[in-house]
Amino acid sequence: MHPSDSDRPSPNGRATPDDDDVIIRATGVTVSFGEKTILDNLDLDVRRGEILGFVGPSGAGKSVLLRTILGLNPKQAGTIEILGTDYERANDAERLAVERRWGVLFQHGALFSSLTVLENIQVPMREYLDLSPGLMEELARLKIDLVGLAPDAADKFPSELSGGMIKRAALARALALDPDIVFLDEPTSGLDPIGAADFDQLIMTLRDTLGLTVYMVTHDLDSLFQACDRIAVLGERKVLVEGPLSMMLEFDHPWVHSYFRGKRARTIVQPTQTANAPVGAA
Ligand SMILES: Nc1ncnc2c1ncn2[C@@H]1O[C@H](COP(=O)(O)OP(=O)(O)OP(=O)(O)O)[C@@H](O)[C@H]1O
Ligand SMILES: [Mg+2]
Repeated sequence: MHPSDSDRPSPNGRATPDDDDVIIRATGVTVSFGEKTILDNLDLDVRRGEILGFVGPSGAGKSVLLRTILGLNPKQAGTIEILGTDYERANDAERLAVERRWGVLFQHGALFSSLTVLENIQVPMREYLDLSPGLMEELARLKIDLVGLAPDAADKFPSELSGGMIKRAALARALALDPDIVFLDEPTSGLDPIGAADFDQLIMTLRDTLGLTVYMVTHDLDSLFQACDRIAVLGERKVLVEGPLSMMLEFDHPWVHSYFRGKRARTIVQPTQTANAPVGAA
């Protein structure tokens, strides 16, 4: 299922408040560290079944927002509803229920270095599921296969893997609990263009086959143009615009303009990807 954009006329790309497809809704989110305000009255919607590309200058607060959505970072104001639950106000049982439905690939420290790939994938299973060791091992091996790693990757330590294999292993761990949503923070950084394109293809295939919703922080223009249904841009401490690529190409803001219409972008953007042709939207 791909979200349709044509029935959502809101000027900044937000869905209507009663939209059933919204799986994450951040409203008026403010996050500060001491005197420094990183996010100020930020709004963002993520829709069920989409690949959302989250983009913005380095240091703008993309990872901070991700950690805030996951409840790992306190906010000073605003609400975040994820899968219908306000995580901050939820009780322990409700939080646990939500945590079991998401998987995360963090920007740094994707895997525990002292554990093998198989053991890494089993970490969330041990934490959240009550399964026998044999069943956990079987499930972990299935995840290894799902992300396109060879079976012998299971017993390797992260130091024995290439960058691309680490990303895949980290994705396998993010998929350990069969989540509804996966959060990926810069999943293709450090990969060569072919490895990155393969990873994007894997994400699209998983979204299509597992019905995942994907929240992907990225600087990778190829990913944004080829894999993402919608894009949200962080700037000036809030989401400046969210919508299909066509909306980014039209949006009148210096950073957005130079990012999506700059020299690097022009070498990637296809002639068909002009104002009326949203990428990835069916
Ligand atoms: N725990 C923290 N305490 C204080 N400041 C923090 C903390 N975490 C992040 N920051 C600051 O918040 C700002 C945003 O950081 P963040 O890591 O979210 O940037 P980013 O948009 O993910 O950048 P990049 O694209 O380089 O990953 C930075 O100035 C950073 O120093
Ligand atoms: Mg970051």
